[in-house]
Amino acid sequence: MRELLDNVAQRSARFLKDIQERRVGPSAEAVAALSRFHEPMPGQPTDPAQVIDMLDELGSPAAMGIAGPRFFGFVIGGSVPAALAANWLATAWDQNATLHLASPVSAALEEVALTWLVDVLQLPEGTGGAFVTGATVANFTALAAARHAVLKHVGWDVESDGLFGAPEIQVVISDEAHPSMIKALGMLGLGRNRVQKVPVDNQGRMLPDRMPKLTGGPTIVCLQAGNVNTGSFDPAAEICRRARAAANAPATWIHVDGAFGIWAAASPQYRQLTEGLAEADSWATDAHKWLNVPYDSGLAFVRDPEALRSAMSLTAAYLPQGARREPAQYLPELSRRARGIDIWAALKSLGRTGVADIIERNCRAAQRFATGLREAGYEILNDVVLNQVMVSFGPPEVTTRVIEGIQQDGTCWAGPTVWQGRSAMRISVSSWATTDADVERSLEAMLRVARGVQALTQIA
Ligand SMILES: Cc1ncc(COP(=O)(O)O)c(C=O)c1O
Repeated sequence: MRELLDNVAQRSARFLKDIQERRVGPSAEAVAALSRFHEPMPGQPTDPAQVIDMLDELGSPAAMGIAGPRFFGFVIGGSVPAALAANWLATAWDQNATLHLASPVSAALEEVALTWLVDVLQLPEGTGGAFVTGATVANFTALAAARHAVLKHVGWDVESDGLFGAPEIQVVISDEAHPSMIKALGMLGLGRNRVQKVPVDNQGRMLPDRMPKLTGGPTIVCLQAGNVNTGSFDPAAEICRRARAAANAPATWIHVDGAFGIWAAASPQYRQLTEGLAEADSWATDAHKWLNVPYDSGLAFVRDPEALRSAMSLTAAYLPQGARREPAQYLPELSRRARGIDIWAALKSLGRTGVADIIERNCRAAQRFATGLREAGYEILNDVVLNQVMVSFGPPEVTTRVIEGIQQDGTCWAGPTVWQGRSAMRISVSSWATTDADVERSLEAMLRVARGVQALTQIA
């Protein structure tokens, strides 16, 4: 075992060093070589060292350079060193994070991490939470608590009696809600299509005066902190004020999808973007995005921990139901990995200033990309308020060719999107590892590829 783990540590360190200089997207040859994994189920055992050898030889070159400093695709963070190392140690511990009894260390660190997260994200004191796989499941988990609370308010026990015959729940969301929100609502029986969608402005922010009239029955209003394309925030303070002023306000639940944007609250410089968010009842976010812990790691926060517990609790003779916070009583899973440990390690190593520094450096990098691309004559499609930049390189086919060219060039990686009918490249700066030099190098590569495509287009 010792030799095997030393071997893996060396290989991992080599990978993380190589990824600084290696092409960010894997080469076509590396991806093609993955076909060598497709072999019949082995009849006999293989030496673990050989297993790792094959994994490193074929897998490492084909891994996307997410852990490196110049990956700007989707909204994906890297892993800060303490979180990665803690993740390794916790994996060696092989803890089942389900109960205190099963893993006292996981339960303890989860409690500490929860308190620190509530503090750093400026959420109301006493807020409860669940450590889940990602923001999709965090939205699902928090909305299950919402469904419980708004129906309980009108005398309906949804966990016992289900939704057939239940009072209707009015669900209000943004036209620009992330698809995972819609999916979460669908999974909860609230319907993907029966929700009421509120129109947005040119940055994707909900227009409060276009909200539907709240009927006064059980109501869930969903906000967004950090649009996946623009990085914009719904006007939370105004929407919360309207929702709370409506008839039967106590039966109204306000939920925030803050997969990455809510982390702006950790930065004194960007905190004002999150104004009003603490007025909500629940929040979903990711730790694997801006906190830069290893995948997977999402967080559901609920102001009233009892609502979350009521929605998620389970009973069995062999499961303790004591006074302690039993993690499994607050989330969908029973058995699961100890995600709180990576989060504790990230927060402990970074501290308040370190978290703020990642946010601020990434936002500064986004500004630099926007300025550099704009000065070169390309159109930036969004107000760069956070870490997201959308750039058009001209007609859709030209933009597509530039994006493909940038991905093939390999210096950095960014993906395509369509914003309000216009094709764009989306740059999301979300990694602790990205330095100013990486930004300059990536910008130079983007401009070089874009000019090359433009020259070819003109010749054609
Ligand atoms: C605003 C928003 N909500 C939800 C999600 C889904 O997060 P996850 O992929 O962690 O489930 C994302 C992912 O980018 C997002 O940006």
